[in-house]
Amino acid sequence: MTLFPNYHRAPVTFTQAQNATWFDDQGQAYSDLTSGIGVYNIGATHPKVVAALTQQAEKMWHLPNLYQNPLQEAVAQQLGGNDYTTYFANSGAEANEAAIKLARLVTGKSTIISFTNSFHGRTYAAMSATGQDSIHAGLPMLTGFTYAKFNDITSVKALITDDTAAIMLELVQGEGGVFPADPAFVAELVNLAKTNGILLLVDEVQTGMGRTGTRFAFEQYGFTPDIFTTAKGLANGIPVGAMLAKNDYAEALAYGTHGSTFGGNPLVMSAAQATLTVLDEVLPTLPEKIALFWDKLAELKALSVVDDVRGLGMMAGMSLTIPVDQVVADLLQDHIIVLSAGHNTLRLLPPLTIPTAQLLETLDNIKIQLDKI
Ligand SMILES: Cc1ncc(COP(=O)(O)O)c(C=O)c1O
Repeated sequence: MTLFPNYHRAPVTFTQAQNATWFDDQGQAYSDLTSGIGVYNIGATHPKVVAALTQQAEKMWHLPNLYQNPLQEAVAQQLGGNDYTTYFANSGAEANEAAIKLARLVTGKSTIISFTNSFHGRTYAAMSATGQDSIHAGLPMLTGFTYAKFNDITSVKALITDDTAAIMLELVQGEGGVFPADPAFVAELVNLAKTNGILLLVDEVQTGMGRTGTRFAFEQYGFTPDIFTTAKGLANGIPVGAMLAKNDYAEALAYGTHGSTFGGNPLVMSAAQATLTVLDEVLPTLPEKIALFWDKLAELKALSVVDDVRGLGMMAGMSLTIPVDQVVADLLQDHIIVLSAGHNTLRLLPPLTIPTAQLLETLDNIKIQLDKI
């Protein structure tokens, strides 16, 4: 065996991709409704990201965080404006590790309340924050994590103690099955956190970078988190994660408290800078595309094998009455790339830049396939 068997890999080898079309090693085209699990938000191999990477690759890739890095400063400014301070990591899980550490350093308290059915990553603290038994199976978890019921404020209140540092949540649970947080629940959570001096930590690793129709989902929920994380789409496929915290909390991540060899290196930052610039151009085009996406999803909802359709913006989940993994495999045979998620859910995360005609045609083809079953 050459590789660990921790992934199930479909029997196809993709070798090239352009926007929402991927090509296999036989030159066959596939329509991508996954963005490579929420990463290619501005489409694969976007020419402006390619240009930025190519230019930077000829200058310098790696630069230890021992020296000035103006590109990091520029991306931090683009991301967090004047209100947030940024730390760059290499993945979503790593960004969440930094966020958990910062919340504990700021408050001097240790417990993080997260939610059932959540997903925050596979490193140890991120995994311990994840509220899914299947992710914890067979492993001891870290102490200092408790799990409230998602969308249930009473269950959050019941878990608050003198040792609560932060409440950590996804505004749309992605891996868990695409469950949006109820706006009234979030409003109560914001109040509860404020009244009790608890930090609100929002994981925007999957919902961020335009996925839900705004750059971050919290913009639609009408509040600003104390701390938030993002990754996946931030450099459109070049590995990166970021943790942002309100400026007041910045001093807590003092010299020597945290660090990374690769975090925020110039190559990654050049891709993030270009991605953020393109995303600003893409965001205004989204309302119309999102409306057409949800009109088409309403048609799919009428099918007998579809139990429920839910989500936000360009993030949708369809609960099926038939095994979703088989549907994902069958659609791949039809050259349509989709994802599964918890609760037997077919998950769609199309690139935000997918041509509308391609999006609607691919959804029509999914409808035809689901109708056959
Ligand atoms: C909400 C959320 N947080 C964290 C992660 C972990 O990110 P990464 O796989 O980059 O470590 C994911 C990955 O799917 C995610 O969806």
